[in-house]
Amino acid sequence: MESKQRNMEDNAEKDNVKSSVPLSCDSGLDKKRLKDILENIPSAVMVMEKPDAVITYANKRAVDLHGLNPCGMKFFEDTAGVKIYKRDGRLCQTEELCTYKALRNGETILNVQEIMERQDGKRLIVNVSAKPLHNDNGESIGAVIIFDDVTESVKTQDALKESEERLKNAQKIAHVGSWVYYTKEDKALWSDELFRIFGLKPAQFGPTTTEYVALIHPDDRERINKSMEKLLFSGSLAAEASFDYRIIKDDGSIRTIHSERRIAELDEENKLVKIAGIEQDITERKQIEEKLESYARDLEKLVEKRTRQLKDAERLAAIGQTAGMIGHDIRNPLQAIAGELYLMQQEVDSSPDSTCKKAVQESLVSIQEQVDYINKIISDLQDYAKTLNPELVAVDLCEVIPQLLSTVKIPNNIKAVEQCDKNLPSVRLDLTFLKRILVNLVTNAIQAMPNGGKLTIEAHAKKGHVSIIVNDTGMGIPDEIKPKIFQPLMTTKAKGQGFGLAVVKRLVDSLGGTITFKSKVGQGTQFKITFAKEKE
Ligand SMILES: Nc1ncnc2c1ncn2[C@@H]1O[C@H](COP(=O)(O)OP(=O)(O)O)[C@@H](O)[C@H]1O
Ligand SMILES: [Mg+2]
Repeated sequence: MESKQRNMEDNAEKDNVKSSVPLSCDSGLDKKRLKDILENIPSAVMVMEKPDAVITYANKRAVDLHGLNPCGMKFFEDTAGVKIYKRDGRLCQTEELCTYKALRNGETILNVQEIMERQDGKRLIVNVSAKPLHNDNGESIGAVIIFDDVTESVKTQDALKESEERLKNAQKIAHVGSWVYYTKEDKALWSDELFRIFGLKPAQFGPTTTEYVALIHPDDRERINKSMEKLLFSGSLAAEASFDYRIIKDDGSIRTIHSERRIAELDEENKLVKIAGIEQDITERKQIEEKLESYARDLEKLVEKRTRQLKDAERLAAIGQTAGMIGHDIRNPLQAIAGELYLMQQEVDSSPDSTCKKAVQESLVSIQEQVDYINKIISDLQDYAKTLNPELVAVDLCEVIPQLLSTVKIPNNIKAVEQCDKNLPSVRLDLTFLKRILVNLVTNAIQAMPNGGKLTIEAHAKKGHVSIIVNDTGMGIPDEIKPKIFQPLMTTKAKGQGFGLAVVKRLVDSLGGTITFKSKVGQGTQFKITFAKEKE
């Protein structure tokens, strides 16, 4: 008996292999059991018959889903008490209904999603299959429809899709990419944004470890290695690593990445299965931070400079007041002395010649010189204190420098040389200011070479600038007074007033130029003034 059964099964299996039609069996299924099953399966089942598509059977689930008993209704006329819409929300035309296609066209329809609106207004998303029914002669006599309520699962899927989309967008906006890495398979899954951050085309898997490491800036690899080793060998789900590093993209651009990584899964033996992380492109943030830091540093310097300028300004105001007083108090008697001197000179000149007359004349010349000298001190003082209003004109330095220098008396033991670049562009300057600047610098240079030397005055053009250089081979400036030489009243000379360079600096500043110097004791000094060249 048993062997007979096996034989039958074997034969059936052979038949099956031959025809490749799946076996079905209905032994023992009487009508009652069939009905029982139909009433209890989770899907809704309805049968409708031709010619009017009258619903002749609806199981319990079908009644539940309809919200009414559709039995006896004519499907196309009463539409079984429901309205059917497509998933895009459009009302289904009769010919588009799965039921219609099975009943009228004899088509088998599998798993079509439709929206079913019940009489009570409730909407369900249903998954519908429909199949024509035939009689023994093969004639179509009706259709069976099976449908399931998939509202919840579709909504969950939609919500999942939406949240995935939101995550993608959030990653895109924040330039954050995420990944998981399966250690045993050496495979990583990368989010789209992560591919974008690394400038790679999105693919099913992320790059291999070797490919990934190749993208990291060589100077950062060692450091990341160390952090990762620590993380990988921690053997703990609580372990985390966080660091910044640079990557070099295909186009050669360098981006700074912030990374947060953690152990995501360990197996029973505490071996690593999965690690996960996020990578954020923080290049712009880093740049802004660096800029802010440098602004802060610049600001500090600026504050220091302004404080110094303020102190200088206070000093200047004091000097200005004093200069005004001195100017007023000394100028008047000085004028009187100069007047008297002139008269005396006239009188002496017209007196008969004698050795006494000659001596007096010499004395008077010497007194005149000293009066001029006092006058100059007062002028410098007053100049230094008054506000400067330069009158700018386009100046050709090659032409103007020799003219201005011809007014300075250069001792015989000093060789003066002028060098001027050909095609020097013109600069906007105040001519009197320029004269005073050059006369002061040249005077200092001459005074620094009491035993003779070489004086060179050059004018050069470079990029957007024009510079004037005054060079001497004199005694040079000692290091300890270098920081102070532009301060008023700073002098190392017995008869100096220490206003020359202070005035020069003020004049250069007022013309929008800059002045710098280089000097070596015993070798000489170079002053360089730079102006922006006139815009074409
Ligand atoms: N070309 C130079 N060589 C050496 N020292 C210089 C030169 N120019 C300026 N100095 C130094 O700078 C000081 C200040 O110069 P300045 O302001 O012109 O005042 P003064 O000429 O009245 O001393 C000078 O006393 C000198 O010590
Ligand atoms: Mg001087």
